[in-house]
Amino acid sequence: MPNHTPECYLLTGGAGYIGSHSTLALMQAGHQVLVLDNLCNSSPISLDRLGQLAGRAPLFVQGDVRDAALLEQVFASHRISAVLHFAGLKAVGESVQQPLAYFDNNVAGTISLCKAMAQAGVFKLVFSSSATVYGEPETMPIHESTPTGRPTNPYGRSKLMAEEVLRDLAASDPRWRVAVLRYFNPVGAHESGLIGEDPHGIPNNLLPYIAQVAGGKLAELAVFGNDYPTPDGTGVRDYIHVQDLAQGHLKALQALQTRTGLNVWNLGTGQGYSVLEMLRAFEAASGRQIPYRIAPRRPGDIARCWADASKAKIELGWQCKLGLAEMMRDAWRWQVQSPNGYA
Ligand code: NAD
Ligand code: WQD
Repeated sequence: MPNHTPECYLLTGGAGYIGSHSTLALMQAGHQVLVLDNLCNSSPISLDRLGQLAGRAPLFVQGDVRDAALLEQVFASHRISAVLHFAGLKAVGESVQQPLAYFDNNVAGTISLCKAMAQAGVFKLVFSSSATVYGEPETMPIHESTPTGRPTNPYGRSKLMAEEVLRDLAASDPRWRVAVLRYFNPVGAHESGLIGEDPHGIPNNLLPYIAQVAGGKLAELAVFGNDYPTPDGTGVRDYIHVQDLAQGHLKALQALQTRTGLNVWNLGTGQGYSVLEMLRAFEAASGRQIPYRIAPRRPGDIARCWADASKAKIELGWQCKLGLAEMMRDAWRWQVQSPNGYA
């Protein structure tokens, strides 16, 4: 029977941090979005907020990408033109404690999704990868031609494995069109302060940690090492506003109209900032002083990491528009408006 429902994009993990901002960007560009999320690291309130922001909520199915029967049903009952696969686990420390959970979710979950897509005849996929797949390259900036290295933890290895699954899949059948997006360090929130990053417990990542110190929830920031070979000795990263990242997904989807096979794009700004530079910038945006102490290096951390973002600029016509001040302003607004996240 022909399916007369409107065409839509399926976003796995669309209730999460990056997925919710991308859902909004797609809806605001006039697309229909179907979110599939098991809510293991997100709240359905994010979907209500998307309804507030976009004037209509996305379609939502609560479920797991490893549930083959559910996926079959989802693809049979919607006209899905492409899939954006955000769903996965992302806590580096937890991945060391629970490697099987990470390989199962991030690798087996990707395989399960691709099987269902192939069965349904849907071959366009945008995959959330990470700069962590490069390991610790000797030279900066990191270009897509920089060889992938040895990620320092099971999370990173699960992302690299999933990429390799996708590479072999795309090589096996010319119908596949895959965009592998290697995100650098996503930060910030939607400018409304209605959606943002909602880490459970004590945050692992720098920006949510700084925001909670500024907001008075945590006492001080531990700066993990000031003896790295960087200008001020603290780690340098390429922080990218989540709103710019969301726009990158729209551009990748457009590119898949014409590009076949598997394509890799770095999504970063091309600019690195140190931990202390981030701290000072957050102080400026929030007007709060942020106490900190120098602590030992965190195991597995690298000294420096920033993107050569020229391939995405040339091939996708995408580049970041928002700078450090906007990242900090929006992270702070989200912290002030939702000090307990969606709780
Ligand atoms: P997030 O945890 O906020 O979002 C992931 C979403 O996927 C959550 O809503 C979670 O409930 C859902 N989910 C997890 N496993 C699922 C499953 N098996 N089935 C259905 N839903 C499931 O994380 P995020 O920061 O938005 O990251 C999104 C993607 O981007 C992840 O794949 C992550 O590895 C990748 N990534 C994130 C970062 C970062 O720093 N945030 C950097 C690089 C790459
Ligand atoms: C940034 C800098 C820390 C916390 C991780 C994952 C990576 C990707 C993004 C998903 C580093 C320092 C941090 C703190 C600190 N995720 N820091 N005190 O480590 O670059 O990347 O998130 O793909 O895979 O590894 O990000 O925000 O944790 O750290 O001094 O309390 O801040 O040492 O230099 P990282 P981060």
